[in-house]
Amino acid sequence: MNLILMGLPGAGKGTQAEKIVEKYNIPHISTGDMFRSAIKEGTELGKEAKSYMDEGALVPDEVTIGIVRERLSKPDCQKGFLLDGFPRTLEQAEALENLLGELETSLDYVLHIDVPQTILVDRLTGRRVCPECGATYHVQFNPPKTPGKCDNDGAVLIQREDDQPETVKNRLEVNVEQAQPLLDFYEEKGYLVTVEGNRNIEEVFNDIDERLQHLS
Ligand code: AP5
Ligand code: ZN
Repeated sequence: MNLILMGLPGAGKGTQAEKIVEKYNIPHISTGDMFRSAIKEGTELGKEAKSYMDEGALVPDEVTIGIVRERLSKPDCQKGFLLDGFPRTLEQAEALENLLGELETSLDYVLHIDVPQTILVDRLTGRRVCPECGATYHVQFNPPKTPGKCDNDGAVLIQREDDQPETVKNRLEVNVEQAQPLLDFYEEKGYLVTVEGNRNIEEVFNDIDERLQHLS
């Protein structure tokens, strides 16, 4: 199955992606995670991406499209994929259509996790992540068993740099502006499925899972 997960920052894309890829055994392709790995490794891509991410701005389309093109061309994507956080602009969406055409495949669904903007700030500023395994928690909504420590490996949890209140505000503004044209683009193509995301994590997943079962 070929899926896109859309939603504003903090809507729960990463959280739901972990569950979807575990159940359906498809690669999870998160452009945000790819940029964060590049930053950690100190590559040229990482240096370029960091300057945009620190401001809450989007990384330029040509850079982002390039890394997705490379990743989707790998053999493991032949069994399907889950794109998380890509596309985020119409230019990226059009590039993806072309790329999928070249790969002789197409999308099944664009899952849009819809959450009112007012609750996203709390979700983002309360998020904590594991620097070792990438697991995501929330101090209030999804706390680890031991406060401040990862359930998987005991590592001390950290806050993402772009989850500081000032950057959060900018990220939300930038993404809200881009979101509607993309939703319209996929609605018109008949791929769009909107999921009510202002419910607990399991309820959101059950809803997504019901939609996906007939594809597997
Ligand atoms: P990216 O890493 O993709 O960040 P984002 O889109 O801002 O999304 P987040 O990861 O912040 O949120 P999420 O929806 O995954 O929420 P999560 O599940 O963690 O991108 C980062 C940056 O990279 C961008 O700003 C940009 O600079 C660059 N970039 C990436 N892709 C790009 C692209 N295509 N083009 C250009 N630039 C790009 O959940 C959030 C919190 O809420 C967690 O604490 C979680 O535990 C909690 N939570 C989740 N679900 C629920 C629930 N149902 N109820 C209560 N709490 C919940
Ligand atoms: Zn961990």
